[in-house]
Amino acid sequence: MKPGGVALVVALVVTVGACGGGDDGSPTTPTNPPPVPTTDPDPLRNAAAVAGKWVGAAVQSSLLRNDATYAATFRKHFDYVTAEWEMKWDPLQREPGVFDFSGGDRIVRFAESSGMNVKGHALLWHQATPAWVEELSPPELRIAMEDHIRTVVQHYRGRVAVWDVVNEAIDDSNGGLRDTVFLRGLGPGYIAEAFRLARQADPDALLVYNDYGGEGLNQKSNAIYNLVRGLKESGVPIDGVGLQMHLSAAGYPPAGQIAANVARLADLGLLVNISEMDVQIRDLAGDAASRLQRQREVYREAVGVCAAQPRCDAVTFWGFTDAHSWIDEFFGEDDPLLFDEQYQAKPAFFGVEDAFLGR
Ligand code: G3I
Repeated sequence: MKPGGVALVVALVVTVGACGGGDDGSPTTPTNPPPVPTTDPDPLRNAAAVAGKWVGAAVQSSLLRNDATYAATFRKHFDYVTAEWEMKWDPLQREPGVFDFSGGDRIVRFAESSGMNVKGHALLWHQATPAWVEELSPPELRIAMEDHIRTVVQHYRGRVAVWDVVNEAIDDSNGGLRDTVFLRGLGPGYIAEAFRLARQADPDALLVYNDYGGEGLNQKSNAIYNLVRGLKESGVPIDGVGLQMHLSAAGYPPAGQIAANVARLADLGLLVNISEMDVQIRDLAGDAASRLQRQREVYREAVGVCAAQPRCDAVTFWGFTDAHSWIDEFFGEDDPLLFDEQYQAKPAFFGVEDAFLGR
């Protein structure tokens, strides 16, 4: 079930303090709960529910297990979870035919014990494909793709509400299809094949195409639009598009362009979700307080586009605390998320809350 047009998943979540819970993070009797942040805002999931949206974050099972404040903060504020790493091809099937679902299962069990919905990320992505796949002949690659998608989607059938079926298939420079092992081995039809395989494996999960850099109106968003329109027109079982929304407060698409892009995707009959949002601020001028305020405005503007669009069903942040963001590893020290390193809600958190509440 999805928020908005379909019945909203309403789950009574009893926040069991800040205890870490069992191996899968499921709540147990609180013992010595870790320090709860002093600014203890209302659950963000409540504001999102007012707008009829799911609100989520990307997480890692090791942090859910080992950091009780991380787990408690995540459980309190979010009703939607994406595995940042553990449900990709490489960790799931590092060797041919040898599946390791342990990490993904921990995240799914945590979600189920916390009244959360799950997005599977991602069935096909060139950057998380194990080396052995790159060595396959085209016929072997087709068999491996079919086997991977069927095995993974069937394993999580009924427990994963949404799948990122294909991730980042559009080339940044020319709007064509990205030169990946899948395109080289299987031709452009691999995208449709992947969606059909996922649908056969789970008739009920929502199936999504996910990409970055196509949030506003530009060559890449036009290419994404044309790709998914072609899939829809060909009867391919695609339900939605994920716009990753990795932004820099120093320069990002105007909200009006994002709204127009989302609207044209919605007009195709697709759902749209913000799938991996973070807002970099290290390149902004000004003191810390002014940069955090600017970040709040960017979050409020972008999430406000989703809040105002009935066919935008969810907002997911790529992490939720500045203590754990891929941005630091890939771009250098930054503070791109809603909570600081001490799990204190930042102005950005309240910008998102304002967006959901229409303030
Ligand atoms: O934890 C494992 C370790 O056990 C293992 O031995 C080692 C082997 O390489 O990998 C470790 O996992 C790392 C993982 O992050 C968890 O920290 C991987 O090396 C590392 O490649 C992986 O990076 C992730 C990256 O995608 C590639 O999968 C980042 O955390 C994640 O934030 C990033 O997320 C992507 C989205 O999926 C797609 N959109 C862009 C976004 C940012 O690149």
